[in-house]
Amino acid sequence: MNTEILLPTEQAFRLAKTYIEAGEAVAFHTETVYGLGADARSDSAVRHIFELKGRPSDNPLIVHVHRDYDISTLIDGEPAYAAPLRRAFLPGPLTMVYPSAGKVSRFVSCGLDTLAIRVPASSAAQGFLRAVNAPIAAPSANLSKHVSPVTAKHVYEDFGGKIPLIIDGGACDGGIESTVLDCTGEIPVILRAGLISREQIAAVAGDCGVYRAKAGEKPKSPGMMYKHYAPRCRTAYFHREELQTAIALYHEEERAGGAPCILCEHALLGALQGCRALDLGDTDREMAQRLYVLLRRAETDATLLIGIAPTLRGGAMTGVLNRFQRAFGGTDEA
Ligand code: TXA
Ligand code: MG
Repeated sequence: MNTEILLPTEQAFRLAKTYIEAGEAVAFHTETVYGLGADARSDSAVRHIFELKGRPSDNPLIVHVHRDYDISTLIDGEPAYAAPLRRAFLPGPLTMVYPSAGKVSRFVSCGLDTLAIRVPASSAAQGFLRAVNAPIAAPSANLSKHVSPVTAKHVYEDFGGKIPLIIDGGACDGGIESTVLDCTGEIPVILRAGLISREQIAAVAGDCGVYRAKAGEKPKSPGMMYKHYAPRCRTAYFHREELQTAIALYHEEERAGGAPCILCEHALLGALQGCRALDLGDTDREMAQRLYVLLRRAETDATLLIGIAPTLRGGAMTGVLNRFQRAFGGTDEA
C-alpha cells in the first residue's frame, strides 16, 4: 500500500473521511503526539488498529471527537466536576474517562464499562475530526512499545506501506501524551500523567487524586503496565548523583568501538565535555517537547543511549519523568 503524507487541507480531510468510512486507519497530527485513527463504531476498524500496532488486547483506546461533538451521546452520565474541567482544558491535552453508554465498538474499551474521550486542540486534528464527524478511536501512531511519534516522519517509520494516509501538521508542540483522568468517581483521579498537571486539575475541580495500582490489582489504565516508549538501541539509566558512573560507561562503550550518547537536562552539559550529549532543555515544556524527538534520534545513530534523569519537578515533569524512566526500562516512580 502507498502511504500518502498530506498537509492538513480540506482536500486531505475529505480523503481521510473516505478512508475512515472504508474501515481504514488514518494517522493524524495532534498537539500531543500523532494518533492512528479508525471509526470507533466499527469492530473491524478498531481491531485493525490493534493488529497494526501489535497492541495487547487489554489496553483500551481513547475516542477522539471534534469540539462541537455532543459527547452526551457516548457517555452514561457524569459527575458535577466534569463540565468545569472541560470548559477549562478542552480542546486540549486532557483525556477524560466517563461511564460508557456502550455506543462504540466493545473493542475500544477492552471490556471496561468506561470510555476515554479526548478533544484535541490541534487544527489538523479538529479539521480531520470535523470532516469525519464520528468518534475516532486513536492510540498513539507508533508500533506497540516503541517511542510515540511527534512528526509525520516518525509515523512513516512505523507504518509506511501499511496505512493509506498521514495528515502532516508538523512537529507536535506538546511532545508527550495527554493526561488521562478518571471522571467516574467522587473526585477526578489521574491514571496517566501528561501535559495538564494535577495542580491545574485540582485548581478547577477542588481536588485531584493520582491512581496507583495496589499489588495484585488489575490496573485501571492497563497501558501503564507495559514497558513503553523504548528506543531501539541499548539503554542505561542513571540518577543525577551517578554522573561519574554514567561518564565511565560512556568511555567504556567508546573504547569498545561503539557510538554512545547521553540524554540529560541542559544544566548537565557543562559537566559532559568531550561526550556526545542530547540536550533535553531547561523547562518542563521543553523537556516534554524534545524527549521523543531525541529518543527517536538516538536509536538511529547511537549504539548505547545513557539517560540521566532530569531533576526538575512540577508542571509536566511528572509525565516527562514517567516516560523517561519507562523508555529506559525503569519502573514507574512518578
Ligand atoms: O495524547 C494522547 O492521548 C494520544 C493522542 C493520539 O491523542 N493518544 C494516546 O493513546 O496516547 P494511547 O492509546 O497511546 O494511550 C491511551 C491510554 C492508555 O494508557 C490506556 O490504558 C488509557 O489511555 N485508556 C484508554 N481508555 C481507557 C479507559 N476506558 N479507562 C482507563 N484508561 C483508559
Ligand atoms: Mg501510546
